Amino acid sequence: MEQKTLVVIKPDGLKKSLTGNILTRLSETKLEIVSAKIIRVSRELAVEHYKHMKDKPFFEELIKYIQGELHERRKVMAMVYWGDDAINKVRKLAGSTNPEEADPTTIRGSYGRITTKGLYENVVHTSSNEPEAEREIKLWFEPDDIIVDLYPTKFVTLTNITKRVWE
Ligand code: CDP
Ligand code: MG
Repeated sequence: MEQKTLVVIKPDGLKKSLTGNILTRLSETKLEIVSAKIIRVSRELAVEHYKHMKDKPFFEELIKYIQGELHERRKVMAMVYWGDDAINKVRKLAGSTNPEEADPTTIRGSYGRITTKGLYENVVHTSSNEPEAEREIKLWFEPDDIIVDLYPTKFVTLTNITKRVWE
């Protein structure tokens, strides 16, 4: 079944120079990459992305982590992959959430660690199911950021919008 999934290379992945390696591993899936961008994650985006974790004791640490405050790297790389069985293919490649339990050949098993505070620094985020993938892709990307039509769109006319343009 054709699916889309959000992949985020977290700040530890960028700090450890794993971007190329992770993209190579992802290309082995033969899925199609339909969008990619480097993002400075706002607190608002972080909290919305991880809203299902808000009652966890490590929530604030998790927000700091995805915002890059634990790694002096305030950026992540967000991508959308598309193709047959995309969600499971990418999650298998990523490995289990806990990097110590993850198969050592997976991305998290190879490169993840558990911090002294007990947070799983696991290098990548990948969507866990179709509703979450849709929620996350729509949160992280605008329709025009993506080269194919993944979900229905509509046109709205905005007036009095101030935006930054090239001088
Ligand atoms: O990322 P994944 O979907 O595998 O796991 P999650 O349950 O949605 O948790 C989101 C993130 O919270 C994980 O990727 C970890 O970085 C972190 N986490 C943690 O530090 N300790 C846990 N016991 C569970 C999750
Ligand atoms: Mg998850």
